[in-house]
Amino acid sequence: MTPKSLFFFSTTLALLILLIPISAQISDPNPKPTQSLSAAHIELTNYGFPVGLLPSLVHGYSINKTSGDFSVELGGDCKITLPPDNYLATYSRTVRGKIVSGKIVELDGIRVRALFRWWSITGIRSTGEDLVFEVGMVSAKYPSKNFDESPDCEGKHSSS
Ligand SMILES: *[C@@H]1O[C@H](CO)[C@@H](O)[C@H](O)[C@H]1NC(C)=O
Repeated sequence: MTPKSLFFFSTTLALLILLIPISAQISDPNPKPTQSLSAAHIELTNYGFPVGLLPSLVHGYSINKTSGDFSVELGGDCKITLPPDNYLATYSRTVRGKIVSGKIVELDGIRVRALFRWWSITGIRSTGEDLVFEVGMVSAKYPSKNFDESPDCEGKHSSS
């Protein structure tokens, strides 16, 4: 996202050092965010989901590719504000569920504050264009493009 993260993950490190005074002044020619993505984020995209469903800092994850059972370690509780309606969401230290292409079920560890109470998100479906969040029998649909970037956890800075 920032020229700094681009700096760290580029293989042309030496070249970048020379170019930094210049690149700091020109705008990013690549419209896609250049976040440092963990293997967990990349795995999400393999299943048809945008990276923004997970906070930026992921400590580890495991997945059983046969059953789809997964768990993601976030290293601590995480609070973020979800676009576009600015719902407050919390992620537990460990988020678990079952993932297949375009579908996450039996989700445990993500809660959203709405209508004066907390709701557990139990499932997420991806249609490509949209994400459908399921809270029990109720669902809410949002454009996937709102989740193209991984949000940082609020109120703490990599206290790992
Ligand atoms: C993965 O899931 C399959 C199917 O449920 C199961 O048979 C297998 O034991 C699991 N593997 C591991 C490592 O848990």
